[in-house]
Amino acid sequence: MYDYERLEQYALKISSRIGFAPKVGIVLGSGMGEIADKINAVYTFAFNDISGFPMSTVEGHAGQFVFGYIQDVPVVCMQGRIHYYEGYSMEEVVLPIRFMAIMGVEILLLTNAAGGINPDYNVGDIVLLTDHISTFVPNPLINKNIDSLGVRFPDMSHVYDEKMRDTMKEIAKQNGIEVKEGVYIQFTGPSYETPAEIRMAAALGADLVGMSTACEAIAAKHAGMKICGISHVTNAAAGLSDKELSHEEVQQAAKQCENKLETLISGFCKTLK
Ligand code: HPA
Repeated sequence: MYDYERLEQYALKISSRIGFAPKVGIVLGSGMGEIADKINAVYTFAFNDISGFPMSTVEGHAGQFVFGYIQDVPVVCMQGRIHYYEGYSMEEVVLPIRFMAIMGVEILLLTNAAGGINPDYNVGDIVLLTDHISTFVPNPLINKNIDSLGVRFPDMSHVYDEKMRDTMKEIAKQNGIEVKEGVYIQFTGPSYETPAEIRMAAALGADLVGMSTACEAIAAKHAGMKICGISHVTNAAAGLSDKELSHEEVQQAAKQCENKLETLISGFCKTLK
Protein backbone atom coordinates (compact mmCIF):
# COMPACT_ATOMS: atom_id res chain seq x y z
CA MET A 1 0.00 0.00 0.00
CA TYR A 2 1.49 3.31 -1.07
CA ASP A 3 1.91 5.97 1.62
CA TYR A 4 -0.62 8.54 0.38
CA GLU A 5 -0.04 10.87 3.30
CA ARG A 6 3.57 11.16 2.22
CA LEU A 7 2.42 11.80 -1.34
CA GLU A 8 0.14 14.59 -0.09
CA GLN A 9 3.04 16.18 1.76
CA TYR A 10 5.18 15.95 -1.34
CA ALA A 11 2.41 17.53 -3.44
CA LEU A 12 2.22 20.41 -0.95
CA LYS A 13 5.97 20.90 -1.20
CA ILE A 14 5.83 20.99 -5.02
CA SER A 15 2.82 23.33 -4.96
CA SER A 16 4.62 25.84 -2.78
CA ARG A 17 7.69 25.60 -5.02
CA ILE A 18 5.84 26.21 -8.30
CA GLY A 19 3.32 28.64 -6.83
CA PHE A 20 0.24 27.48 -8.70
CA ALA A 21 -2.18 24.58 -8.79
CA PRO A 22 -2.49 22.86 -12.16
CA LYS A 23 -6.08 22.74 -13.37
CA VAL A 24 -5.57 20.43 -16.34
CA GLY A 25 -3.55 17.21 -16.40
CA ILE A 26 -2.33 15.79 -19.69
CA VAL A 27 -0.99 12.27 -20.21
CA LEU A 28 0.96 11.87 -23.42
CA GLY A 29 0.99 8.53 -25.19
CA SER A 30 3.67 6.70 -27.15
CA GLY A 31 5.59 8.99 -29.47
CA MET A 32 3.58 12.05 -28.45
CA GLY A 33 5.92 13.29 -25.75
CA GLU A 34 7.18 16.27 -27.72
CA ILE A 35 3.88 18.06 -27.19
CA ALA A 36 5.18 18.76 -23.69
CA ASP A 37 7.88 20.96 -25.25
CA LYS A 38 5.13 23.35 -26.33
CA ILE A 39 4.18 24.04 -22.73
CA ASN A 40 5.34 27.27 -21.25
CA ALA A 41 7.21 25.25 -18.64
CA VAL A 42 7.81 26.51 -15.12
CA TYR A 43 9.03 23.38 -13.37
CA THR A 44 9.97 19.85 -14.42
CA PHE A 45 10.84 16.79 -12.41
CA ALA A 46 11.29 13.07 -13.06
CA PHE A 47 8.80 10.57 -11.62
CA ASN A 48 11.57 8.91 -9.65
CA ASP A 49 12.29 12.15 -7.77
CA ILE A 50 9.32 11.04 -5.65
CA SER A 51 10.37 8.16 -3.44
CA GLY A 52 8.60 4.92 -4.23
CA PHE A 53 7.29 6.25 -7.52
CA PRO A 54 7.39 4.01 -10.59
CA MET A 55 9.66 5.02 -13.47
CA SER A 56 8.72 4.67 -17.11
CA THR A 57 11.01 2.12 -18.79
CA VAL A 58 9.55 2.26 -22.28
CA GLU A 59 11.27 3.88 -25.22
CA GLY A 60 9.34 6.97 -26.29
CA HIS A 61 8.19 7.69 -22.72
CA ALA A 62 10.34 10.28 -20.94
CA GLY A 63 9.00 9.71 -17.42
CA GLN A 64 8.63 13.23 -16.09
CA PHE A 65 6.09 15.83 -15.02
CA VAL A 66 6.17 19.21 -16.73
CA PHE A 67 4.34 22.01 -14.90
CA GLY A 68 3.51 25.14 -16.79
CA TYR A 69 0.93 26.96 -18.86
CA ILE A 70 -0.94 26.32 -22.10
CA GLN A 71 -2.94 29.34 -23.24
CA ASP A 72 -2.38 30.81 -19.75
CA VAL A 73 -4.14 27.80 -18.17
CA PRO A 74 -2.07 26.07 -15.46
CA VAL A 75 -1.33 22.50 -16.51
CA VAL A 76 0.76 19.52 -15.58
CA CYS A 77 1.83 17.21 -18.31
CA MET A 78 2.91 13.64 -17.72
CA GLN A 79 5.49 13.08 -20.38
CA GLY A 80 5.52 9.31 -20.61
CA ARG A 81 3.23 7.01 -18.71
CA ILE A 82 3.64 3.88 -16.63
CA HIS A 83 2.33 0.62 -18.08
CA TYR A 84 1.17 -2.51 -16.31
CA TYR A 85 3.35 -4.65 -18.62
CA GLU A 86 6.48 -2.99 -17.18
CA GLY A 87 5.92 -5.13 -14.10
CA TYR A 88 4.34 -2.52 -11.82
CA SER A 89 1.14 -3.19 -9.90
CA MET A 90 -1.97 -1.42 -11.15
CA GLU A 91 -1.86 0.73 -8.03
CA GLU A 92 1.63 1.86 -9.00
CA VAL A 93 0.56 2.41 -12.63
CA VAL A 94 -2.06 4.96 -11.55
CA LEU A 95 0.06 6.70 -8.88
CA PRO A 96 0.93 9.61 -11.19
CA ILE A 97 -2.79 10.11 -11.90
CA ARG A 98 -3.52 10.19 -8.18
CA PHE A 99 -0.62 12.56 -7.66
CA MET A 100 -2.16 14.92 -10.22
CA ALA A 101 -5.50 14.67 -8.39
CA ILE A 102 -3.80 15.57 -5.11
CA MET A 103 -2.07 18.49 -6.86
CA GLY A 104 -5.52 19.86 -7.71
CA VAL A 105 -6.03 18.69 -11.30
CA GLU A 106 -9.74 18.73 -12.16
CA ILE A 107 -9.63 17.93 -15.86
CA LEU A 108 -7.62 15.09 -17.33
CA LEU A 109 -6.73 14.62 -20.99
CA LEU A 110 -5.61 11.06 -21.63
CA THR A 111 -3.97 10.48 -25.00
CA ASN A 112 -2.77 7.21 -26.42
CA ALA A 113 -1.66 5.35 -29.51
CA ALA A 114 -4.12 2.59 -30.33
CA GLY A 115 -4.81 -0.15 -32.81
CA GLY A 116 -7.95 0.36 -34.88
CA ILE A 117 -10.53 -2.41 -34.70
CA ASN A 118 -13.50 -0.56 -36.16
CA PRO A 119 -13.38 -1.05 -39.96
CA ASP A 120 -14.36 2.61 -40.45
CA TYR A 121 -11.08 3.75 -38.88
CA ASN A 122 -7.92 4.55 -40.83
CA VAL A 123 -4.34 4.92 -39.63
CA GLY A 124 -3.94 8.55 -38.56
CA ASP A 125 -7.49 8.95 -37.28
CA ILE A 126 -8.14 10.76 -34.01
CA VAL A 127 -10.82 9.06 -31.94
CA LEU A 128 -12.54 10.53 -28.86
CA LEU A 129 -13.35 7.82 -26.35
CA THR A 130 -16.98 7.35 -25.42
CA ASP A 131 -16.37 4.44 -23.05
CA HIS A 132 -13.92 1.63 -22.30
CA ILE A 133 -13.65 -2.07 -21.48
CA SER A 134 -11.08 -2.75 -18.75
CA THR A 135 -12.28 -6.22 -17.78
CA PHE A 136 -9.07 -7.88 -19.01
CA VAL A 137 -6.76 -5.95 -16.69
CA PRO A 138 -6.82 -5.72 -12.88
CA ASN A 139 -8.82 -2.83 -11.45
CA PRO A 140 -6.45 -0.11 -10.14
CA LEU A 141 -8.74 0.54 -7.14
CA ILE A 142 -8.14 -2.94 -5.72
CA ASN A 143 -6.65 -2.45 -2.24
CA LYS A 144 -7.79 -0.42 0.75
CA ASN A 145 -9.86 2.53 -0.48
CA ILE A 146 -8.20 5.96 -0.27
CA ASP A 147 -11.20 7.81 1.19
CA SER A 148 -9.54 11.20 0.71
CA LEU A 149 -9.59 10.55 -3.05
CA GLY A 150 -12.97 8.96 -3.57
CA VAL A 151 -15.60 6.41 -2.59
CA ARG A 152 -15.15 2.64 -2.36
CA PHE A 153 -17.58 1.82 -5.17
CA PRO A 154 -17.40 4.63 -7.71
CA ASP A 155 -19.93 4.84 -10.53
CA MET A 156 -18.44 4.32 -14.00
CA SER A 157 -21.53 5.05 -16.13
CA HIS A 158 -20.00 8.21 -17.58
CA VAL A 159 -16.22 7.92 -17.37
CA TYR A 160 -15.52 10.19 -20.36
CA ASP A 161 -17.15 13.59 -20.03
CA GLU A 162 -19.71 14.21 -22.76
CA LYS A 163 -19.47 17.99 -22.59
CA MET A 164 -15.70 17.88 -22.99
CA ARG A 165 -16.15 15.59 -25.96
CA ASP A 166 -18.54 18.10 -27.53
CA THR A 167 -16.03 20.89 -26.93
CA MET A 168 -13.28 18.81 -28.57
CA LYS A 169 -15.52 18.08 -31.55
CA GLU A 170 -16.19 21.79 -31.94
CA ILE A 171 -12.48 22.68 -31.75
CA ALA A 172 -11.70 19.91 -34.26
CA LYS A 173 -14.34 21.27 -36.63
CA GLN A 174 -13.01 24.82 -36.37
CA ASN A 175 -9.53 23.58 -37.25
CA GLY A 176 -10.51 21.21 -40.04
CA ILE A 177 -9.53 18.11 -38.06
CA GLU A 178 -11.70 15.05 -38.48
CA VAL A 179 -12.47 13.22 -35.23
CA LYS A 180 -14.32 9.94 -34.71
CA GLU A 181 -15.74 8.35 -31.56
CA GLY A 182 -15.34 4.89 -30.11
CA VAL A 183 -14.91 2.41 -27.28
CA TYR A 184 -11.38 1.53 -26.12
CA ILE A 185 -10.40 -1.87 -24.80
CA GLN A 186 -7.32 -2.27 -22.62
CA PHE A 187 -5.25 -5.44 -22.65
CA THR A 188 -2.11 -5.93 -20.61
CA GLY A 189 0.39 -6.25 -23.47
CA PRO A 190 3.31 -6.20 -24.00
CA SER A 191 2.69 -8.65 -26.84
CA TYR A 192 0.27 -7.32 -29.40
CA GLU A 193 -3.01 -9.18 -29.66
CA THR A 194 -3.69 -12.20 -31.83
CA PRO A 195 -6.24 -11.88 -34.63
CA ALA A 196 -8.60 -14.10 -32.60
CA GLU A 197 -8.32 -11.75 -29.62
CA ILE A 198 -9.13 -8.81 -31.87
CA ARG A 199 -12.20 -10.63 -33.23
CA MET A 200 -13.24 -11.21 -29.60
CA ALA A 201 -12.70 -7.53 -28.76
CA ALA A 202 -14.78 -6.50 -31.77
CA ALA A 203 -17.57 -8.88 -30.71
CA LEU A 204 -17.47 -7.26 -27.25
CA GLY A 205 -18.02 -3.82 -28.75
CA ALA A 206 -14.50 -2.41 -28.82
CA ASP A 207 -13.42 0.00 -31.58
CA LEU A 208 -9.84 0.52 -30.44
CA VAL A 209 -7.24 -1.50 -28.59
CA GLY A 210 -4.33 -0.45 -26.42
CA MET A 211 -2.27 -1.17 -23.32
CA SER A 212 -3.09 1.87 -21.15
CA THR A 213 -5.68 4.58 -20.47
CA ALA A 214 -8.70 2.65 -19.12
CA CYS A 215 -6.96 1.97 -15.78
CA GLU A 216 -5.92 5.64 -15.54
CA ALA A 217 -9.44 6.77 -16.37
CA ILE A 218 -10.82 4.58 -13.56
CA ALA A 219 -8.40 6.09 -11.02
CA ALA A 220 -9.14 9.61 -12.29
CA LYS A 221 -12.91 9.08 -12.19
CA HIS A 222 -12.59 7.70 -8.67
CA ALA A 223 -10.79 10.91 -7.70
CA GLY A 224 -13.55 13.04 -9.23
CA MET A 225 -11.80 14.30 -12.35
CA LYS A 226 -13.47 15.13 -15.64
CA ILE A 227 -11.87 13.01 -18.31
CA CYS A 228 -11.37 13.22 -22.05
CA GLY A 229 -9.77 10.23 -23.78
CA ILE A 230 -8.13 10.80 -27.14
CA SER A 231 -6.75 7.92 -29.18
CA HIS A 232 -4.64 8.15 -32.26
CA VAL A 233 -4.99 5.15 -34.55
CA THR A 234 -1.40 4.17 -35.32
CA ASN A 235 -2.14 0.81 -36.95
CA ALA A 236 -4.88 -1.57 -37.93
CA ALA A 237 -5.32 -4.09 -35.09
CA ALA A 238 -3.90 -7.60 -35.51
CA GLY A 239 -5.39 -9.60 -38.34
CA LEU A 240 -6.95 -6.57 -40.01
CA SER A 241 -3.97 -5.81 -42.24
CA ASP A 242 -1.03 -7.79 -43.68
CA LYS A 243 1.46 -5.59 -41.84
CA GLU A 244 3.42 -6.96 -38.91
CA LEU A 245 2.92 -4.86 -35.74
CA SER A 246 5.92 -3.13 -34.19
CA HIS A 247 6.52 -0.46 -31.56
CA GLU A 248 8.65 1.49 -34.05
CA GLU A 249 5.74 1.69 -36.47
CA VAL A 250 3.41 2.79 -33.67
CA GLN A 251 5.85 5.49 -32.50
CA GLN A 252 6.43 6.81 -36.01
CA ALA A 253 2.72 6.96 -36.77
CA ALA A 254 2.08 8.64 -33.41
CA LYS A 255 4.57 11.40 -34.22
CA GLN A 256 2.55 12.28 -37.29
CA CYS A 257 -0.50 13.22 -35.26
CA GLU A 258 1.32 15.47 -32.81
CA ASN A 259 0.22 18.65 -34.59
CA LYS A 260 -3.45 17.68 -34.60
CA LEU A 261 -3.29 16.69 -30.96
CA GLU A 262 -1.51 19.86 -30.02
CA THR A 263 -4.21 21.91 -31.77
CA LEU A 264 -6.93 20.07 -29.87
CA ILE A 265 -5.21 20.38 -26.49
CA SER A 266 -4.32 24.02 -26.93
CA GLY A 267 -7.80 24.83 -28.31
CA PHE A 268 -9.35 23.08 -25.36
CA CYS A 269 -7.27 25.03 -22.83
CA LYS A 270 -8.34 28.25 -24.54
CA THR A 271 -11.98 27.43 -23.75
CA LEU A 272 -11.12 27.27 -20.03
CA LYS A 273 -9.82 30.83 -19.78
N1 HPA B 1 -2.57 -3.14 -29.81
C1 HPA B 1 -2.28 -2.77 -28.55
N2 HPA B 1 -1.74 -1.61 -28.25
C2 HPA B 1 -1.46 -0.76 -29.25
C3 HPA B 1 -1.73 -1.08 -30.58
C4 HPA B 1 -2.32 -2.35 -30.88
O1 HPA B 1 -2.58 -2.72 -32.03
N3 HPA B 1 -1.32 -0.01 -31.33
C5 HPA B 1 -0.85 0.92 -30.47
N4 HPA B 1 -0.93 0.48 -29.21
